[in-house]
Amino acid sequence: MTIAPSSFVLAIRPLAPRDLGQASALALRVFASCVGPGCTPQGCAAFASCVTPEELLAQVKRGELLLGAFAGEVMTGMLVIRRPGHVANFFVDERCHRQGIGRALFQEAERLLAGPGGEAPAMTVNSSLFAVRFYERLGFVRIGAEIRKNGLRCAPMRRPSGPRPRAGGSPGTSPGAS
Ligand SMILES: CC(C)(COP(=O)(O)OP(=O)(O)OC[C@H]1O[C@@H](n2cnc3c(N)ncnc32)[C@H](O)[C@@H]1OP(=O)(O)O)[C@@H](O)C(=O)NCCC(=O)NCCS
Repeated sequence: MTIAPSSFVLAIRPLAPRDLGQASALALRVFASCVGPGCTPQGCAAFASCVTPEELLAQVKRGELLLGAFAGEVMTGMLVIRRPGHVANFFVDERCHRQGIGRALFQEAERLLAGPGGEAPAMTVNSSLFAVRFYERLGFVRIGAEIRKNGLRCAPMRRPSGPRPRAGGSPGTSPGAS
């Protein structure tokens, strides 16, 4: 399947139960190609258990924010935020990196999580080592040494609350489409 996000409108919307199989497969595939090589088999197994369709459905039911980026029916990115502002999972199709899909997903999450004055909440993430530069571009800073836990390696990062950063820089999006 050829994916060329610059050639069509990207829709970003909350994930529905029917999307969770696709979201799980996307997360597993991108993790295996970008993050898994730095983890132990135990870490890969621990990760896989966190992104089964059943686990994602439980997260939807708990009221966590699950967003997907779609090119037509094809999911090109997924983001899970545990309220009020912890990034729990974030994956963009590896064939579509560096095209603004991750930023577009994050900006839509900020919009949905913003307080009455429009300010973005403080956000935290235990970033994969792969994604540290990406989060820095979104305004996160490292707040501690690398963590090695359950065979996974990550960097704790935080971004303070405040006015939402600049819009734009994203592909042609249709935020909130459902
Ligand atoms: C992290 C990830 C979601 C980013 O998605 P993306 O769609 O490629 O990100 P964007 O294209 O929106 O990039 C936003 C900005 O970050 C920069 N950026 C993205 N990846 C980068 C990288 N690996 N190194 C340096 N800068 C990077 C982009 O150049 C862009 O900069 P600018 O707009 O300020 O000029 C994606 O790389 C991914 O799925 N990685 C593998 C899984 C992973 O590690 N997830 C994080 C789990 S905590």
